[in-house]
Amino acid sequence: MKIVGASIPRPDALGKVTGAAQYPADLVRPGMLHAAAVWAHHAHARILSIDTSAARALPGVRTVLLAVDVPYNRFGLIEADQPLLCDDMVRFYGDRVALVVAENAAIARAAADLVRVEYEDLPIVSSAQQAIAPGAPRVHEDRSNVLLHQKIRRGDIEAGFAAADVVLEGRFTTSWQEHAYLQPDAGISYWEGDKLVLETAGQWLHEDQRQIAAMFEMPEERIVIRYAKIGGAFGGREDLSLPPLVALAAWKLREPVAMVWNREESIVGHHKRHPFTITMKWGAKRDGSIVAAQIESIADGGAYASTSAEVLKCAAIFAIGPYSIPNVATDAIVAYTNNVPSGAFRGFGAPQAHFAAETMVTRLAHELGLDPTDVRRKNLYKEGDLESTGKPLPAGVSVRQVFERCLEEKAVRFKSDGRVTPGSSLRRGVGLACGIKNVGYSFGFPEQATATVELEVTPAEIRSATVRVGAAEVGQGVHLVLRQIAAETLGLPFEAVRMITDDSSQAPNAGSVSASRMTLMGGRAVAEAANAARGSWVYGDPPRATVQYIPPRTTPLDLETGAGVPNYCYGYSAQAVEVEVDMRTGVTRVARIISVHDVGRAINRQQVEGQIEGCLAQAVGYTLTENLLTRDGKILTPYFSTYLLPTTLDMPTEVYPIILESADPNGPFGARGVAEMPLVPFAAAVAAAIFDATGAWVTDLPMTPERILAAIDESRRRSAASAAALIV
Ligand code: MOS
Repeated sequence: MKIVGASIPRPDALGKVTGAAQYPADLVRPGMLHAAAVWAHHAHARILSIDTSAARALPGVRTVLLAVDVPYNRFGLIEADQPLLCDDMVRFYGDRVALVVAENAAIARAAADLVRVEYEDLPIVSSAQQAIAPGAPRVHEDRSNVLLHQKIRRGDIEAGFAAADVVLEGRFTTSWQEHAYLQPDAGISYWEGDKLVLETAGQWLHEDQRQIAAMFEMPEERIVIRYAKIGGAFGGREDLSLPPLVALAAWKLREPVAMVWNREESIVGHHKRHPFTITMKWGAKRDGSIVAAQIESIADGGAYASTSAEVLKCAAIFAIGPYSIPNVATDAIVAYTNNVPSGAFRGFGAPQAHFAAETMVTRLAHELGLDPTDVRRKNLYKEGDLESTGKPLPAGVSVRQVFERCLEEKAVRFKSDGRVTPGSSLRRGVGLACGIKNVGYSFGFPEQATATVELEVTPAEIRSATVRVGAAEVGQGVHLVLRQIAAETLGLPFEAVRMITDDSSQAPNAGSVSASRMTLMGGRAVAEAANAARGSWVYGDPPRATVQYIPPRTTPLDLETGAGVPNYCYGYSAQAVEVEVDMRTGVTRVARIISVHDVGRAINRQQVEGQIEGCLAQAVGYTLTENLLTRDGKILTPYFSTYLLPTTLDMPTEVYPIILESADPNGPFGARGVAEMPLVPFAAAVAAAIFDATGAWVTDLPMTPERILAAIDESRRRSAASAAALIV
């Protein structure tokens, strides 16, 4: 193999660094108008009246659109429960009540401020705990605040605890995380003949097309979605944010319209990672075998359904980490609140679950007087093990190899500098954690990817190929990887493969770039279409084939027991993290990271390393610095000046991405996915490292200096108290 595995440079890189690449906010059409949203800025209120007269009177304003202008005013990826424009109620700060269209963006924004909305404020549901308490106000009048309650029951939990020599309890909280894609939500929309075109950013051309067609009650083939260059997504573009708004303006006025959100609008207006409160009770035997895990997870779903149900189910199955535990009782609940909707974000429920589960494993080991490494070895999944949902894991269970490799790397790379720097308040510590995360859609959600390959041939040879595959390039490098798969399969030079990927009318539906799935799913469809096209060559011309790849099927989970087949593929991770904690301030620096991943096959090694490194930066932010604060449903940190992303200075100089390649049975050339994996174990590895350095467990994310310092103080108080008790 010459092309698969090669670190071919990204063809899109030069344009992106020179500024030649066109992102959605760079797009221009002659005579285009500009749209601006009128935001609710109320967490929960009834709309009494909307007065648009002052806005309409402003020179340069073309129209002000309201809910009544949207033919089918509902959208959503799983369930269409979100209005594009609100008519009677607003349910979170970032709801939209009107859309102003004007000759330029400044006039549109000025006019948006002139729209007068009269509200009657309603009681605000500001946490999941409040939402599920008896007598709580309803977020949606026609339904319970419990969006989903998923149970998992395996074995006999009481017998499990009875057999345990040690039982530990723990409580963990995690907070929202903002995707912080550098390219804020933007797009332009216009008519091309009888087709409405939307050029924007997203993660799934054909799903955006489906939802927008439904909103305007148009046949899907009359909606064309085109993706410009996309500056990051991370799950944050799975839900439609700005795109249907700009499409509405163009659809209505039949003129080109542009819309660009500023950073505050993007942070207020699009969904976040789910905050969770996780309560755990785990039991283990003296030999380190974990025999029982009881888990209650409560998540804040925010005002609309988004992908909450799917995220919750993932958090439920991953609440035991990558461990085989015979007795499990999990109750996972996600509730509607008047907070910003929660939805997809790199890891999709797994990071929250692993923060709790992996911390419990380390604590159980300490309690038993065993090495956490040995307790992991004793319980890690192996080939043929059952999941808590009752069926065997998909073939290719490699978490033990991944963990052992992590230990080997740690022995070589983490030569101890000593825990204490003499004369300083800095303490060093090392933590370990493992992870499991699905690749591809779960729980019976229809999973497929379709690709078309067309060959240009002479009588003697294949000269070049055109690959059509509707896969979004959000910065992860998927267009390059799919092109490498096509070139390798066809025996063509890389340059002889042309990609058509960014237009819903020109490329078939390959599903979303989410769930770390596109290398496996899109890659498999491309490889099969390439083989089929070559196979069709003998029968005539032009050689061309379209193939829909469907992976092994999954099933919904039984609501009461969790029984089912949740996934067809998993990625496995293990990490070792070294931190340095300032005992006086709590300020914690990540000093070194080893991140080991079984990717099945690295189609492009450098891209895989880049995915691991980039994801680790996001993991550092999630774990230590990114603190999205809210009060009564209002986001108090809607700027990068107050919502602190890690910069290059916060990243350690020593980051070791380690790639293992045990082939997945379904993946193209054995490839699985990697995109989300480094975020899965990271927070738990850092928590264990902080404990190693300080003797204190931090159980709330993000682990800010204040929280770390408070945990250190608390653990000192406790050891002082127990020392005093010993003396007495
Ligand atoms: Mo994702 S969080 O599967 O885009």
